[in-house]
Amino acid sequence: MDLAPASPTTQEKTLTVLGLESSCDETAAAILRRAPDGSQEILADLVLGQNDAHAPFGGVVPEIAARAHVEAIDGLVVEALKAAKLTLDDIDGFAATAGPGLVGGVMAALMTAKALALGTGKPLIAVNHLEGHALSPRLSEDVAFPYLLLLVSGGHTQLLIAEDVGVYHRLGSTIDDAAGEAFDKTAKVMGLGFPGGPALEKFAQTGDVERFALPTPLRGRPGCDFSFAGLKTAARQIWDKLENPSDQDRADLSAGVQSAIAKSLAQRSGRAMDMFVERYPNVAEPRPFLVAGGVAANKAVRTALSDAAAERGFEMTAPPMKWCTDNAAMIALAGMEHLVRGQTDDLDAAARPRWPLDEQSAKMNPAIGAGRKGPKA
Ligand code: KG4
Ligand code: ZN
Repeated sequence: MDLAPASPTTQEKTLTVLGLESSCDETAAAILRRAPDGSQEILADLVLGQNDAHAPFGGVVPEIAARAHVEAIDGLVVEALKAAKLTLDDIDGFAATAGPGLVGGVMAALMTAKALALGTGKPLIAVNHLEGHALSPRLSEDVAFPYLLLLVSGGHTQLLIAEDVGVYHRLGSTIDDAAGEAFDKTAKVMGLGFPGGPALEKFAQTGDVERFALPTPLRGRPGCDFSFAGLKTAARQIWDKLENPSDQDRADLSAGVQSAIAKSLAQRSGRAMDMFVERYPNVAEPRPFLVAGGVAANKAVRTALSDAAAERGFEMTAPPMKWCTDNAAMIALAGMEHLVRGQTDDLDAAARPRWPLDEQSAKMNPAIGAGRKGPKA
């Protein structure tokens, strides 16, 4: 599959990077090749989900995830090489997510990449999973820097400006739950099944969005941070008061929750767009607003975001769904960007449960409730 060309670098020869991902509940391996002229191609792109293993528990169980990654990852590397018709000798660098994420899971990809790097004598690149997401739009489109990105998944909800490879400014992030978590946990309360987001969206289609009054989180507050814990609690309280709830009740509450989440994402993103324009007054319209993460699959969310973008001279785009959710192609891409810049890692690179993409802004404005070990993201 041919991809958008990369930004010009000083790369002299064709390079091939194997990327590995295992930070949440997807085990993934991908191989990316880039020629000196910047043209690039994905030679393999494999993702193995674990939904069936976690479904009985209504959420991702870290120990089950870690075990499943360990069992799957070696085979996936072999499959990826087979799909690309390559051997390990053809790989110039091994990139793996080193965090943030469930550390037992992160270790599966990272240790595998270390072993491969050690065995072949080729470099290791320890990739920040969030950088993978931040660069993922550039897998499918020639998106120029700087661009505004909303990353909205089960683990993360944050707005950032990607100014260049390795230069990211976080404008805001969630102070409690991620948006996907709010979808999943509300769906779980209503017994809609796992994963909750898509199930809730389905119920919402036949729901009355006006029936339950739900607050739009942080409405009118300055800044671009998000909060979804209050909304989740409000939804649970409404649910608990319903006697013998029917499918119509489920649909109405789903519609209310979905609408409140979509509104909040759009309002906070609108503020981030204003900040982007202030910072980069010369970026021509339509200015780029990229959305990545599993929640970007939700139609109400997409509509709210693209309306907010259009009002402000931005254009909302999302990578194809397979690169919106967790995947290894984005890890291979981030790895490639570092490899061509000579940025590789030692074999003692640590797995990091928390690893803010914008360390500086995260330190200056740590997300509230992020725990004593520092901000999650
Ligand atoms: O990016 P992703 O696959 O994995 C990580 O969280 O890293 O995102 C998964 C999240 C889950 O919370 C899931 O419920 C949510 O994305 N999601 C949705 C929809 N599809 C996936 N939420 C709302 N509506 C959807 N259609
Ligand atoms: Zn992710």
